[in-house]
Amino acid sequence: MSGYAPVTPEIAAQLEAICGKNYVIYRDEERLEPYSRDEIPGHHYRRMPEIVVRPQTTAEVSAIMKLANVERIPVTPRGAGSGLSGGAVPVFGGIVVATDRMNQILELDKQNMMIVVEPGVIANDINEYLRPHELFYAGYPMSMETCYIGGNVAENAGGGKAIKYGVTSRYVLGLEVVLPSGEVMELGGKLLKDVTGYNLLPLMTGSEGTLGIFTKIILKVIPLPKYQYDLLALFPDSRTAIEAVPATMVESGITPTSVEYMDQESFRSACEYLNETLPYQDAGAMLLVSVDGNDPEKMADDCEALGTFLEKHGASVVYVADTPANSERIWKIRRNVAEAFSLYFPRQSGEDIVVPPASIALVVEQFQELAEKYGVTIPCYGHAGDGNLHSRVSAPDSWSDERWEETLPKILNDLYALVAQQGGRISGEHGIGCKRLAYMPSVVSETYLNVLRSIKQALDPNNIMNPGKIFMV
Ligand code: LAC
Ligand code: ZN
Repeated sequence: MSGYAPVTPEIAAQLEAICGKNYVIYRDEERLEPYSRDEIPGHHYRRMPEIVVRPQTTAEVSAIMKLANVERIPVTPRGAGSGLSGGAVPVFGGIVVATDRMNQILELDKQNMMIVVEPGVIANDINEYLRPHELFYAGYPMSMETCYIGGNVAENAGGGKAIKYGVTSRYVLGLEVVLPSGEVMELGGKLLKDVTGYNLLPLMTGSEGTLGIFTKIILKVIPLPKYQYDLLALFPDSRTAIEAVPATMVESGITPTSVEYMDQESFRSACEYLNETLPYQDAGAMLLVSVDGNDPEKMADDCEALGTFLEKHGASVVYVADTPANSERIWKIRRNVAEAFSLYFPRQSGEDIVVPPASIALVVEQFQELAEKYGVTIPCYGHAGDGNLHSRVSAPDSWSDERWEETLPKILNDLYALVAQQGGRISGEHGIGCKRLAYMPSVVSETYLNVLRSIKQALDPNNIMNPGKIFMV
């Protein structure tokens, strides 16, 4: 028994009164179903909401939360549903609050180099909006064409530019948050410094929808770099490629924008998915290394130096993508690996481990030993320069569902233990959600979990805000 109250027709009527009848989905399986899942493939981590509401204003969100809190109905906030840890899955049913109608760019404050947005704005649209102003929001993740900024803030999303520009939290300067009680709280503001009390902004950023719903977000923007050059380095095998990452970064003394890794299975899957053929599909693995800036001569020098180091560390050939079209062609492949894997490997577990950057080659090697031990495959790709890799533990076709379900937890326990041995963590950017919740006690201390529980208890004593995520209360 969850102890939560059901959504009765009376509650549904009250929610309709708050949001408008057109923006409530109730007792309509077909229209509710898309809100039962995120991007994790397979039938696990799916649960139908009892009702979906699509508010447009902070006042509406606040009224929904007040009602849910009084009635003890769980509420799951939802952005674009592009997450990979089950964060938007309503694991106890109840109300899903979809933020798609809160989709306005409210203000570009050029004097302060800040932009104020609502949570349902697509991350890439922020940059499209900023481009004519020669400004840039650098915190966006790989799913930028679909994900919402609200979800990015909730998950503290990372992405392909973190080495140089950091992740979402670096850019979140202010938030308007509707708390589980329904009260509205302002955090931060158009400020580059603020030590007025506890620093709650980074607590909310990455809280996975368990502490409140963001209704307004103030982001820092930076000057748009004029140029980006991309290097594509091909390697004979995965090991050489991944070992070249820390070596090149340390020895070259250059901070690239991105160092992305794809093993053969990763880029071939993405190519197949995109119906794309690369002339070098036989490469064992590849690194995509980018630099950006405003001084093309310096960038060309940096590319040459990086190319030399990549070759010294085993690259068989290094191409320079010299036009935006060439760059986009290869980045598109990288951005679509996750989608491709979801399609081609329905029985799989998409992981998101993060280790100190110098340990990345060791864990990739250990994962391959693990794959052999269990008779599965673990292709890897991701943000190698950040020490953040997406490994896809995938079952062979010959395995029954029962065998896969029985074996996967054992593989993940071993995999996470290897990561922990290196001082790593089980998620670098996708979050814990309901996907990794069961593994938290084995990778963090009880003291740490108890502090998380105390924070949750203080803000959400009735445990109605996205329950069943990160940890058990
Ligand atoms: C990526 C997403 C899955 O890096 O995080 O492709
Ligand atoms: Zn990623």
